[in-house]
Amino acid sequence: MSAAKVRKAVFPAAGLGTRFLPATKAQPKEMLPVVDKPIIQYGVEEALHSGIRNIVIVTGRGKSAIEDHFDVSFELEHHLESRHKLELLAKVRQVSDLIDVSYVRQKEALGLGHAVNRAQELVGQEPFAVVLPDDVIDAETPCLRQLMDVYEFFNAPVLAVMEVPKESISSYGCIDAEPVSYNGSRNKVYRIRDLVEKPKPSEAPSNLAIIGRYILTPDIFECIGKVQPGAGGEIQLTDALRLQLRSRPIYAVKFEGKRYDAGDKLGFLQATVELALKREDLGAAFREYLKGLNLR
Ligand code: G1P
Repeated sequence: MSAAKVRKAVFPAAGLGTRFLPATKAQPKEMLPVVDKPIIQYGVEEALHSGIRNIVIVTGRGKSAIEDHFDVSFELEHHLESRHKLELLAKVRQVSDLIDVSYVRQKEALGLGHAVNRAQELVGQEPFAVVLPDDVIDAETPCLRQLMDVYEFFNAPVLAVMEVPKESISSYGCIDAEPVSYNGSRNKVYRIRDLVEKPKPSEAPSNLAIIGRYILTPDIFECIGKVQPGAGGEIQLTDALRLQLRSRPIYAVKFEGKRYDAGDKLGFLQATVELALKREDLGAAFREYLKGLNLR
């Protein structure tokens, strides 16, 4: 049977953003700008460029700026239109015109698994993507698209993974997996044997870390409903996947592209510098400026 089409992407965005205080006291961390776009817009554009236009955002208290961002801003658009600032107008409209966004609230931050479960009614009985907005991925082929291709091939859930230094594996979900051949290569796609959330480096089965992109199937909701709080006392998506693994194969893709952890101060700065350098309108001037810094 061929795989059902992935049409929806769920964006968990209810976290408190404590790593970015005080900037996130009155503003969601997903709205912090990297160059000139809020962090979450990078993920939304990735979904769009992968062929997904139904966006489900799981929000919480204090997140209304996200809703306003993807909404029509009548005053702003009118202002730009009447002053013939059409290029800016196009920028403001660009994404919101192309996507269909729904919102669901997660009243308490009880974990990633819990956040995904809040989207169950909006997702329904179909496969869907999950995008963790903190992970900004710069790739020629959008990371989600890479995952969707593998999903369509195996008709099974697929996670994004990347190799990380063993000592930092405890910040991630980690997989134990065996390579499988895909598109003539054996070092890109893995079949997962087991997975564990935030293991100690000494107990980690590999250095393959789960990155915030997933293609999931609707039976995951039942699994999320069954798992007990795990790492950090939270309902973990990794634990639900571990349960799901008992009844069906799950794959992982070592995606091509560069991932930035924009939810971390250093990762945020790296994303800002590198994405600014790649910009046509800014890159050359910014490079000159950086060269002039007396760095050793
Ligand atoms: C979440 C997941 C974890 C994954 C990580 C990727 O953790 O639970 O498995 O490796 O995202 O960014 P968090 O960073 O929300 O603690």
